[in-house]
Amino acid sequence: MNILILTGSPRKGSNTDILAKSFADGASINHNVEIVSVCDYKVNPCVGCNSCFTREGNKCFQNDGMADIYAKMANADMLVVASPVYFYGISAQLKNIIDRCHTPMRKNFKIKSTALLLVAGSSKSCVFDAIVKQYELIVDYFHFEDKGRVLVGGVNDKGAIAGREELKQAYLLGKNL
Ligand SMILES: Cc1cc2nc3c(=O)[nH]c(=O)nc-3n(C[C@H](O)[C@H](O)[C@H](O)COP(=O)(O)O)c2cc1C
Repeated sequence: MNILILTGSPRKGSNTDILAKSFADGASINHNVEIVSVCDYKVNPCVGCNSCFTREGNKCFQNDGMADIYAKMANADMLVVASPVYFYGISAQLKNIIDRCHTPMRKNFKIKSTALLLVAGSSKSCVFDAIVKQYELIVDYFHFEDKGRVLVGGVNDKGAIAGREELKQAYLLGKNL
């Protein structure tokens, strides 16, 4: 499989990045893996004009970094979303990417399966509930196969995830795909 990991933390060397790297280390044993830090791309929010539904080639009128992300998504068999929890949601940069998938262009995608990787400062498991629910609804809507989730609470400072057991879980999730 071609596996595309979209990481949504704006800070470099983030807990999200470290978790995604563990997953990628396992997954790359048997698959082609690309990690894309979405904050390296300038992607505007969807403005809801729906003009992509009628425009030639279904291109968005916004000529921004999403063109590169669309190309990567079109090449992916599996999509992994990795994000910090920001006010019980995913990061805004990552949400922009997901909203920009409201386009007929996605008929070119061949994504069949997904996984979810999250980190949060709080140790309460409920901190992930809203994102997990949204993830499950989207997986169901697109008839994706959920390959698994790794949720890591109690990590606040950059790099605090080092040594956590969940890194092994992420590695094995990738390795066992
Ligand atoms: C804008 C913002 C909102 C946050 N909201 C939450 C939250 O709702 N719950 C929580 O547990 N942690 C919250 N955090 C803490 C981050 O989830 C935590 O620091 C995480 O480790 C950041 O991941 P990163 O290292 O990948 O950037 C928030 C942090 C920021 C910057």
